[in-house]
Amino acid sequence: MTLLAYDALSVTLPAMARPILDGIDLRVRAGEVVALVGESGSGKSVTARAALGLFPDGAEVGGRVRVDGTDLVGADAASLREVRTAKAAMIYQDPRAAINPVRRVGDFLTEPLRLVHGWSKARAAARAVDLLGAVGLPDPARHMNQYPHELSGGMLQRVVIAAALTAEPRLLLCDEPTTALDVSTQAEILAILGRLQRERGLGLLLITHDIELAAAVSDRIYVMYAGRIVETAPVGELFASPRHPYTAGLLGSSPPLDGPLDRLVPIPGAPMGLLESAPGCSFAPRCRFAEPGRCDQAPPVLRRHGPAEVACHRTAELAGASAAPSPASRQEDR
Ligand SMILES: Nc1ncnc2c1ncn2[C@@H]1O[C@H](COP(=O)(O)OP(=O)(O)OP(=O)(O)O)[C@@H](O)[C@H]1O
Ligand SMILES: [Mg+2]
Repeated sequence: MTLLAYDALSVTLPAMARPILDGIDLRVRAGEVVALVGESGSGKSVTARAALGLFPDGAEVGGRVRVDGTDLVGADAASLREVRTAKAAMIYQDPRAAINPVRRVGDFLTEPLRLVHGWSKARAAARAVDLLGAVGLPDPARHMNQYPHELSGGMLQRVVIAAALTAEPRLLLCDEPTTALDVSTQAEILAILGRLQRERGLGLLLITHDIELAAAVSDRIYVMYAGRIVETAPVGELFASPRHPYTAGLLGSSPPLDGPLDRLVPIPGAPMGLLESAPGCSFAPRCRFAEPGRCDQAPPVLRRHGPAEVACHRTAELAGASAAPSPASRQEDR
């Protein structure tokens, strides 16, 4: 069952040369972990926030974003509230920014249940203690009485995850949920998210700039560049044969989790800002396969190529060629 569906979602701000989001198509089904990967400024957070019906002020929005069937584009207040309080929850990068520093952890967890869902104090507290245990906090009852500054960043992110689960949403949106944490805490938080996702059959959209991390935890990956999806495929397929030159570049420039860092090949050039636009493929100015007179003419659309969908004018020709360092040659490079 599809929990989250974007259909040709576009978000445009006046006075910008290109849309922030340009025709996003994306699906997250129940029980599935889907990663959205791309460089800073590519539009990942704007995409995630759209799933809660949050759009930049003054933006013109086209297309649809449906959560469990409810379209959030132009939705009325009651539908928005239902999605935000009961169907979908967001976990952000910095847990300290998500929690009121002068309220106790217990209040943070129980207030929405009491105020929005009308639960009694005792029932809400019992659920909060259960959830703190479920996210692996060792002494849930004690943590209920603590203030945020008494907890480490990793513990606090667990509290935020517990809070996201209080209303039993089916869809979890995680925007760089581990970026502010040290590496071992990152791994713990990802393990907790993975376990909760499996146990509860949640749909999970994981946003990250780190394609190796995305590969470690997700079923499918969407690769985003300058407000467009340029490739999507099941994880194994994307790693074994990236078809878009940008995906290949991300794989080449992403630190191999178990290898030396000295052979990384950065993608040359810089991502396209909102004040720049290109008539053709947005990646063409940085692409070593770009063909003048073709790639710079019209934007490529997503087309199916085997198990993947790719937006590149040259996918068919590059297939089997060296659009990417193959896994074997990457291995040799190390
Ligand atoms: N409320 C807003 N008003 C104006 N511009 C915005 C707004 N929100 C985002 N943008 C612009 O839209 C583009 C995409 O932003 P977004 O935050 O989605 O990027 P991102 O992929 O999440 O980047 P990062 O990896 O740095 O978090 C950026 O150029 C950003 O400046
Ligand atoms: Mg972001």
